[in-house]
Amino acid sequence: MCGIVGYIGNQDASSIIFEGLQRLEYRGYDSAGIATLEDDVQTRRAEGKLVNLQAALQRSPLHGSLGIGHTRWATHGRPSEVNAHPHRAGSIVVVHNGIIENYLPLKERLRNLGHHFSSETDTEIIAHLIEEHYKKSKRFEAAVRAALKEVRGAYAVAVICRDEPDLLIAAKLGSPLVIGQGEDAYFVASDIPAMLSHTREMIFLDDGELVVFSRTSMQISTIAGTPVEKLTKTITWSPLMAEKGGYRHFMLKEIYEQPRAIADTIAGRIDKDERSIFLKDLHLDAAALKAFDKIFIVACGTSWHASLVGKFMLEKLCRIPVEVDIASEFRYRDPIISEKTLTLVVSQSGETADTLAALREARGKGGKVVCICNVVESSIARESDGIIYTHAGPEIGVASTKAFTTQLVALFLFALHLGKVRGQVDAELFSTLIEELLTLPRKIEEVLGLDEKIEQIAKDYMMASDFLYLGRGNQYPVALEGALKLKEISYIHAEGYPAGEMKHGPIALIDEHLPVVVVVPENATAEKVVSNMEEVAARGGKVIIITTVGFDEAMAKADAVLHVPLIVDDLMPILTSIPLQLLAYHIAVLKGTDVDQPRNLAKSVTVE
Ligand code: AGP
Repeated sequence: MCGIVGYIGNQDASSIIFEGLQRLEYRGYDSAGIATLEDDVQTRRAEGKLVNLQAALQRSPLHGSLGIGHTRWATHGRPSEVNAHPHRAGSIVVVHNGIIENYLPLKERLRNLGHHFSSETDTEIIAHLIEEHYKKSKRFEAAVRAALKEVRGAYAVAVICRDEPDLLIAAKLGSPLVIGQGEDAYFVASDIPAMLSHTREMIFLDDGELVVFSRTSMQISTIAGTPVEKLTKTITWSPLMAEKGGYRHFMLKEIYEQPRAIADTIAGRIDKDERSIFLKDLHLDAAALKAFDKIFIVACGTSWHASLVGKFMLEKLCRIPVEVDIASEFRYRDPIISEKTLTLVVSQSGETADTLAALREARGKGGKVVCICNVVESSIARESDGIIYTHAGPEIGVASTKAFTTQLVALFLFALHLGKVRGQVDAELFSTLIEELLTLPRKIEEVLGLDEKIEQIAKDYMMASDFLYLGRGNQYPVALEGALKLKEISYIHAEGYPAGEMKHGPIALIDEHLPVVVVVPENATAEKVVSNMEEVAARGGKVIIITTVGFDEAMAKADAVLHVPLIVDDLMPILTSIPLQLLAYHIAVLKGTDVDQPRNLAKSVTVE
């Protein structure tokens, strides 16, 4: 949600922090600010996009080699300059990502102690609380620790103090925070891309940990003060990976990265000769896997659509009952979970609050949790019993694309592994499915070759005010995903629906103004979907079809047809979803919306 960047070193803090905030723009924000310390603290803040903050910095530059910066996505208090971070109270300046749940009683108490507040934010109370402790002890680190013990809720904070020009303090509870170790410099940020152009050596703080940086050292401990040893991880992502790489938008780059992302997600996990799958972070042996008698898959948004596809894979290959839940529903319905229940949690960011809460619900009831996640050491990854990382690389565009298809690959790998362990997948089937899986990158390249044709279809239908997406079986989640892609970046209303349900109501919507996208690869239910499509065409509806090469049943009635290569049915959703990503992308570009940062949306929804 919000983005934090802190720097202490011997370079110009303001420019380093500003560049870091630019790399975090994808997190969604509505205001931004930077504070640096040289003699005194100077702060520049601006509402809206970073270009406004840049203008403020050009008008009145900041100086100093110590500073903190922030991009804010409003939770408490409207988007405005006065609510933008950093927030200051006396000697103390703070930036914060998260929500302080007890900020109102703390604010009341501080008011009674004579503190005056200028903003509507919960963050400002952190600055005043630290200041209240600091003015008594004049000990900066102790004041931060004392204040953080009093707040409840989620935070990632970075703090500087006017009287301590050689100290930067940061702490984490519930919101992500990463440390970067540079040449005679330290960085702290909400996410990896903010620091990649300076260092690849990073440390991921855990909840309840605090770090004190000087210009030459770093001390990590618990909030209470117990020293903590942390591993440094070398991040292989190049800065370019987090750049657009020549594409017009991050989303288009990430759509085209899917062959690579899927190849990377498969790499090192298959031994064809041994007919084995290696999921090194799964931490569940064959005995544990055999003991499960129920699987939940829990996620939000696009990750929930991937979960719906995963149900088909797991029930078919493992013959175990699978129930898919939207995370914000799962966590409040008191699900029935035992030690024989496995809960799969699917999340690109690994920080989605509802999904993290669902994970805790499942573990709290004694179940095992395995996450499928794209961000190393994210909160969800760190709280899971086992992890299957997708290796999609940073997904910057708010609309999830390569994360979705790599989640499907990760789910397939897990289903194959579990099916083999449980004796449901024999050697022959295993080899066949592995061979099919290995053809994916090439076949996706073929699908990407449809781009120009899809752009033309986008031009033909971009003025529609509504779209309907239809699919059956494991293509129904693809219909849901295609509809979500379109509505979240083009702002056109779109709905995904089971094709067989048309006659139970939605067919009343059909007229010549309603484009209907039908996802119908040649499979066991294709004939039925074709008849659903004919019902639409007979009523004047415009039909756009995604089907497989060689399946030309009744295609004459379609207004546009896109053919994808054949592949085993379990993996077909990967191929059929990509044309829908491109259709949504091109319509959004034609409509002139902010494709990478659509209005009202954030890349990682870290609040409820
Ligand atoms: C999908 O394009 C959206 N960005 C959104 O639905 C997203 O999938 C959802 O918020 C879940 O995010 P996560 O995978 O990071 O948990």
